[in-house]
Amino acid sequence: MEMWLHDALVSLSFFFLYFQAASVTSAEDPTFNDDVLGLIVFKAGLEDPLSKLASWNSEDYDPCSWVGCVCDPATNQVTELRLEGFSLSGHMGRGLLRLQSLHTLVLSNNNLTGALNSELTQRGTLQVLDFSGNNLSGGIPEGFLEQCGSLRSVSLGRNRLTGPLPVSLSYCSTLTHLNLSSNQLSGRLPRELWFLKSLKSLDLSHNFLQGDLPSSGLLGALYDLRHLDLSTNSFSGHLPSDIGACSSLTWLDLSHNYFSGNLPVSMKSLRSCSFLRLRGNSLLGEIPDWIGEMGSLETLDLSANNFSGNAPFSLGNLLSLKDLNLSSNFLAGEIPHSIISNCSNLLSFDASMNSFTGWMLFSSQSLSGNLGFLQALRLLDLSSNALFSGEIPSNIWILTSLVHLNLSTNSLFGSIPSPIGRLKLVEILDLSSNLLNGTLPSEIGGALSLKQLNLQRNHLTGHIPPLISSCSALNTIDLSENKLSGGIPGSIGSLSNLQYIDLSRNNLSGSLPKQVEKLTHLVTFNISHNSITGELPAGGFFNTIPLSAVTGNPSLCGSVVNRSCLSVHPKPIVLNPNSSNPASGPPLSGQIRKSVLSISALIAIGAAAFIAIGVVAVTLLNVHARSRVSRHDAGAALAMSVGETFSCSPSKDQEFGKLVMFSGEADVFDTAGANALLNKDCELGRGGFGVVYKTSLQDGRPVAVKKLTVSGLIKSQEEFEREMRKLGKLRHRNVVEIKGYYWTQSLQLLIHEFVSGGSLYRRLHGDECVCLTWRQRFSIILGIARGLAYLHGSNITHYNLKATNVLIDAATGEAKVSDFGLARLLASALDRCVLSGKVQSALGYTAPEFACRTVKITEKCDVYGFGILVLEVVTGKRPVEYAEDDVMVLCETVREGLEEGRVEECVDAMLRGDFPAEEAIPVIKLGLVCGSQVPSNRPEMEEVVKILELIQCPSQEFE
Ligand SMILES: *[C@@H]1O[C@H](CO)[C@@H](O)[C@H](O)[C@H]1NC(C)=O
Ligand SMILES: *[C@@H]1O[C@H](CO)[C@@H](O)[C@H](O)[C@H]1NC(C)=O
Ligand SMILES: *[C@@H]1O[C@H](CO)[C@@H](O)[C@H](O)[C@H]1NC(C)=O
Ligand SMILES: *[C@@H]1O[C@H](CO)[C@@H](O)[C@H](O)[C@H]1NC(C)=O
Repeated sequence: MEMWLHDALVSLSFFFLYFQAASVTSAEDPTFNDDVLGLIVFKAGLEDPLSKLASWNSEDYDPCSWVGCVCDPATNQVTELRLEGFSLSGHMGRGLLRLQSLHTLVLSNNNLTGALNSELTQRGTLQVLDFSGNNLSGGIPEGFLEQCGSLRSVSLGRNRLTGPLPVSLSYCSTLTHLNLSSNQLSGRLPRELWFLKSLKSLDLSHNFLQGDLPSSGLLGALYDLRHLDLSTNSFSGHLPSDIGACSSLTWLDLSHNYFSGNLPVSMKSLRSCSFLRLRGNSLLGEIPDWIGEMGSLETLDLSANNFSGNAPFSLGNLLSLKDLNLSSNFLAGEIPHSIISNCSNLLSFDASMNSFTGWMLFSSQSLSGNLGFLQALRLLDLSSNALFSGEIPSNIWILTSLVHLNLSTNSLFGSIPSPIGRLKLVEILDLSSNLLNGTLPSEIGGALSLKQLNLQRNHLTGHIPPLISSCSALNTIDLSENKLSGGIPGSIGSLSNLQYIDLSRNNLSGSLPKQVEKLTHLVTFNISHNSITGELPAGGFFNTIPLSAVTGNPSLCGSVVNRSCLSVHPKPIVLNPNSSNPASGPPLSGQIRKSVLSISALIAIGAAAFIAIGVVAVTLLNVHARSRVSRHDAGAALAMSVGETFSCSPSKDQEFGKLVMFSGEADVFDTAGANALLNKDCELGRGGFGVVYKTSLQDGRPVAVKKLTVSGLIKSQEEFEREMRKLGKLRHRNVVEIKGYYWTQSLQLLIHEFVSGGSLYRRLHGDECVCLTWRQRFSIILGIARGLAYLHGSNITHYNLKATNVLIDAATGEAKVSDFGLARLLASALDRCVLSGKVQSALGYTAPEFACRTVKITEKCDVYGFGILVLEVVTGKRPVEYAEDDVMVLCETVREGLEEGRVEECVDAMLRGDFPAEEAIPVIKLGLVCGSQVPSNRPEMEEVVKILELIQCPSQEFE
């Protein structure tokens, strides 16, 4: 519909312009050029996204200066229009019909659509028409070539033309070039085609044409034909017996059709033929001797046919030959020596996939120098001739131009000659599937252009030479199924282009060099069936490799082989024999719990060492599920063996862990980090929800890792992860930053910022307690308040505020709130009474409403805990202190002191009166208000911060 409208508009404007022009074209304006009109109408019908036709201006008197136009200087009329590759689209319209003198029309490589318009060719002036590389569709109308008396050259290649060739072709007796390649033309060739006596070039390749070629008597008329390309169609039958009559042929391509039978003898008359390609047909019989008479041949491609017998010696007479392809036939016997000794222009020689036998290249005569005739040779493919045997000549490096050498799947024996590394240009070297023995010479490092090295399936011994790392372009190394020994050289880590590496089925030993982790482009990595030991790298690609790629190395460890690397670490933990029956043991109890926890944490970290770290976490579940063997998470499995008590159903722990780092850095815990957890000194503390350890990422940065001890209660990974992502976004100077987490059903780790100064609890009550000054205490209180206010502002309730959960930065003295958000996660799973039991170590901090089921718990419970903390910081006393026969509840003690007017006595004695009372007293009062029994009496943390900022003595503010 739109197209129709568009066309209508264009023709309308055409007629409008036509009449306007007619009225102007008169004696008074002799300079007016009718071509301007035609071209403007033509332009109006097109889209010109690159404004290539900007110079086409309807105000001009003549179009001779317009882009693409050539005029006859005598008449100022356009004779040539060349708009090649202008990105024009749309329909051609009828404007061009106005150009009276046009003889050359080149619109190739645009995006013109629509059908061919017969009127264009029917005016009898056009000689050259090139519409190739457009998007023209429909058939070639009979009328298109009916009055083509003037046409010399027609190119319609690379369009979407369909249907048969028009019979009217026969009228084009002057046609010299016809190119209809790469369309969707179908049907048989009309006999009339062969009457085009002037044809020099006929290209019908890449269509769906079919049928036989005339068997005789027709082709002979085409004595001027130089270029005939019928390749990639569905032609069948025998090759025309009189093909030799086309004696001018220099280029004959009949490849990829269904031609059968023998090569017609007349072919030998094609003395000018330099390009003969018959690849991919069903031609058979012997390659005739007379082939040697086609002395101009530069390319001879007889590949992928059914030729049999010996290759004729006369091939050696083709002295101009550059490209000889005999591959994929049934040729037998020796490759004629004449080729090697005569065809000194040969660039490419492919004799692969035949049944050639013998020694040819590899005989002692060839060693002595004949090889030197092939100095220009770039490709030599003699692969897959099973009986082809001999040694690789040691002077093979004479072939200095070789880029591609394929001698695979033969019976070559002996060793790889060490000078092979002198093939400086060789990119593909394939000697696979032979009987080669000896070593891989370290001179291979000299093959600086090498991209692909295939030596698999031989009998090679010795080591992989570390010098192989000099071949910096290598992307493929296949040394599988040899008898190589020794280690994998770490230097391969520098081959940064490596994508495919297969070392499987050798006798390689030693540990896998860490450097392989640097190979970031790996697609395949196979070291199976060797004796490689040590740890598989973790992360990225290495988490995705299948078990089959590493299997058969009994001492290899890592998550992919489901073998923990812990056994290679020192093992200082003595398991409690009582823990042998974990199921009946009480959860989280006493000594057992202690050892279980540290082992679990250790194992978790150990397991984590094999897990990719990154924003896109990799779940190994899939890999795991694919393997036949039922395996356990290294962590979970070991944890079970030592009495994993906090997992609800450890036997269901079939998954691997998932480690997510919010920073997106590809950090990995190193073994040292994991080992560090064996060390009791690395335990930073433990609480109601977990044990915290210090360890470091591989780059040395310390982190704290919290192993959740209540993890069995967290049922939903989704919920856990959602919560973690939320927490991971928090950034505040008074809130400990969560850097990541690790999840398995039975084991969860929280990775957070390591804060160097320890907990507030240790500062206040610890053994090596260094007395905090008033100023420090005030700033800690303010810091906690700000941190909490930020959390509440982010919709996060802490639930578990206490002195051990406030950390102090050693450098700045800033307080940082930690351990937030976890209780919420559990609160959804737990009865709140159980929860308050869990956090009973927070005794004294727990808001009274926790005990009361009917009161909704809000962030006000944090305000309560904060109030208690304030009192604790100011007084230096624990929230609840046990004396001999008495329990002192801090809050009550202070409240009494306030009521009795001796509140100053409550302040920590360690300060020895060195504090500003005008700050201390309001702070204590604030603490008491915050710790009030009724939630609604407690202020918001936001307000608390403001109050504290007000309380702060102005003189101290900027300290
Ligand atoms: C050709 O035109 C069609 C629509 O007319 C457009 O979708 C396509 O992208 C164009 N192709 C090129 C190569 O410009
Ligand atoms: C050819 O035209 C069709 C629509 O007629 C369009 O979908 C297609 O993209 C075009 N092809 C190219 C190569 O521009
Ligand atoms: C025929 O046209 C195609 C596409 O434009 C081109 O690639 C090919 O070389 C042409 N054939 C001849 C013989 O010029
Ligand atoms: C290689 O094999 C050949 C015979 O096949 C044998 O003579 C030669 O000693 C072997 N060389 C090595 C290094 O094993």
